[in-house]
Amino acid sequence: MPLVDLDRFDFLYANRVKGMKSAATRDLMATLSRPGIISLAGGFPDTRAFGEEAFREISDQVATESAQALQYGPTAGLEGIKDIIVDVMAAEGTRANQEDVFITTGAQQGLDLVAKVFLDEGDAVLCEGPTYAGALNAFAAYRPRIIHVPMDRAGMMPVPAREALKKARKQGIRVKFIYTVPNFQNPTGVTLAADRRRELLKIAEEYDLIILEDNPYGMLRFDGQALPSIAALEQESTGGTDRVVYLGTFSKIFAPGVRLGWVHAQPGILHKINIGKQGADLCSSNLTQMLIHSYFRHANWRAYVRHLTALYKERRDAMLDALAEFMPKEVHWTHPEGGLFVWATLPSYVDATSMLPLAISRNIAYVPGEGFYSGGAGKNCMRLNFSFVEPAKIRRGIELLAEVVRERMELRSDLERGSQLGAQHGASRSAVGNSER
Ligand SMILES: Cc1ncc(COP(=O)(O)O)c(C=O)c1O
Repeated sequence: MPLVDLDRFDFLYANRVKGMKSAATRDLMATLSRPGIISLAGGFPDTRAFGEEAFREISDQVATESAQALQYGPTAGLEGIKDIIVDVMAAEGTRANQEDVFITTGAQQGLDLVAKVFLDEGDAVLCEGPTYAGALNAFAAYRPRIIHVPMDRAGMMPVPAREALKKARKQGIRVKFIYTVPNFQNPTGVTLAADRRRELLKIAEEYDLIILEDNPYGMLRFDGQALPSIAALEQESTGGTDRVVYLGTFSKIFAPGVRLGWVHAQPGILHKINIGKQGADLCSSNLTQMLIHSYFRHANWRAYVRHLTALYKERRDAMLDALAEFMPKEVHWTHPEGGLFVWATLPSYVDATSMLPLAISRNIAYVPGEGFYSGGAGKNCMRLNFSFVEPAKIRRGIELLAEVVRERMELRSDLERGSQLGAQHGASRSAVGNSER
């Protein structure tokens, strides 16, 4: 079928579709399964680490309650799993209320539901720059303005955040919430410093905003001290949960295939989210809630998280070592203390998006930085994933990538030399012409 037929109903699509674009990683998926390719593109945890035997055990336990596992469940989730979530959040230092926990189909659905209940067309969201592409995607359906706040090594910078809010207020733009991934952010691997978490809370109070704290990676810390979540800081300063909407997920501490996450928020917000979820999918899967319940109740999940953390730390080290060994000195990258990603910045004249086909032809893939911004920044950046590929392959992958980057840089030098020669040649010809005249 010719491609143009796919757009045959252009005149019928809703306006909201115009702002929606497919994530580069999702589009890349088919190419990346090609044999021989080293993909640093996905955001995949290593689910091979869990093992068939452990999976069979928890499945057998759930099979004894098959009637409930196969049934519809409450929109807010099964009670048992909420107790597990209270334990998981406590392990990260956040005191959660069982009644303030609401189950979602992955944190991704949490992003969609929060946007659904808060955003009217033209409202604004303050995000890190760059930010998680999947959040931009979820928000886009509600047609907001995205205001990126620059980051440094300590995360979103409070001074530009305040300036952006002041400017938006002057222009009559309603900012509804601040979206942040505070720990080992996707895509940069950067962690928001403790004093900035407090500052962000203060800013949200000053401007009466929600903070959407998205924390899939907090437990995957390799080095340094764990920091308090913004949700915990709010509890500390106000004694309860008010403006912080916290998103958690089992994707990175257990497995993304179960598609299970949660929102922790105050009852008013959860009531609206409940209505939003009823329209989206009625309820999340009982089957996977029960699988998780069985595993987290009976197995040593903390030991499994420690196992994953050790695995990823080794891979992070392999990536940082290889970058230092192979990349040209003009390339810079982040040094994450946990999570799944490193963010690399190439010289400003190298376009990582247009370089990708060449990289893939050399069997190495990454995600170009552009997709993590709304509006075209990040062209000379790339996200590199270290959680899914073994250390030796990471090293080889970075070596291949460095060759591609170096070629691009040399191409530019050649072009510059060429144009300088051309200019000199032109100048000498016109000088000759002048003297002849
Ligand atoms: C920052 C962030 N938020 C949310 C998600 C979505 O997670 P889930 O699998 O729970 O839907 C991801 C997935 O990679 C992520 O990186």
